[in-house]
Amino acid sequence: MKRKIIAYNLVLTDALEQLDDSFEVEIFDGINPKTDHAFLHALKDAEGIVGLALPVDKELLEKAPKLKIVSNNSTGYNNLSIEEMTQRGVMGTNTPGVLEDTTADAIFGILLAAARRIPELDHFVKSGNWKQHLTTAQYAVDVHHKTLGIIGMGKIGSAIAKRAHFGFDMNILYYNRTRNIEAEGKYNATYCDLEPLLKQSDFVCLMTPLTSETENLMGEQEFKLMKKSAIFVNGSRGKTVDEEALIAALNQKEIHAAALDVYRSEPLSPDHPLLQFPNVVTTPHIGSSTFETELKMANLAVENLLSGLLGQRPKNLINP
Ligand code: DGY
Repeated sequence: MKRKIIAYNLVLTDALEQLDDSFEVEIFDGINPKTDHAFLHALKDAEGIVGLALPVDKELLEKAPKLKIVSNNSTGYNNLSIEEMTQRGVMGTNTPGVLEDTTADAIFGILLAAARRIPELDHFVKSGNWKQHLTTAQYAVDVHHKTLGIIGMGKIGSAIAKRAHFGFDMNILYYNRTRNIEAEGKYNATYCDLEPLLKQSDFVCLMTPLTSETENLMGEQEFKLMKKSAIFVNGSRGKTVDEEALIAALNQKEIHAAALDVYRSEPLSPDHPLLQFPNVVTTPHIGSSTFETELKMANLAVENLLSGLLGQRPKNLINP
């Protein structure tokens, strides 16, 4: 009998070609994993799952008695209850090391877009409103030589610091669980507490993973501490931000603008209040989504899956 694998929201399924004939793959895309009958049926026999953002909790694990490994096709793994998985001997893996530059490009891109009002002014041109020379109504704010505060100086935070330092001569502050001596040396980044970072930064860029400590890290008080001229950028996970507080801060003009790639609930509903603000740049969680990088991630995710199923230690094992 073939060993069953579930591919869940794995877009680049070509990566599955690494698996030989001893495996049978069932592909699921865009289904509700709590109610989809075929998915729940496949879980009963599945030894491995590879894919994106499947909530793996006690309830799912109880339905998957043969499961050995869940290989996330992402670097973030807040969808995995690692403690529950470890207790049951189920491995969890992710895909670090291949997406940092791509994600930093995207997040620095939305920072620039918000500062220079690129989506708004694109619309201005396309809607036929560019009829004379620009007035102050179209002016933006500078990025170069400003202060960038990075919350979460991991690999992606560091790649953003690199762009800011070498490309834009920015002054970099950062807040992190631990000091990042390499980023301090290479990008002249200065470690500081959250409060002074929020008070001093012209751009606040949130890059921390979602954990119980970082959930709602940015709330009412934090937005109030920011400069009225500052731009808030979120490239981490939606739940690190209290969205109601962000909306209030934008309504009350406590901050100048925002650039968001992630949301508490994804896909973002078309009637979400955040979409009403011309000074909010929104992208649909595009951090790592380029052809080149998504292919590397999918291949790495399947490689991790295969190692786990063959009894080897996967390269990117998360369990302690
Ligand atoms: C990641 O890799 O965590 C990206 O945010 C895609 O989910």
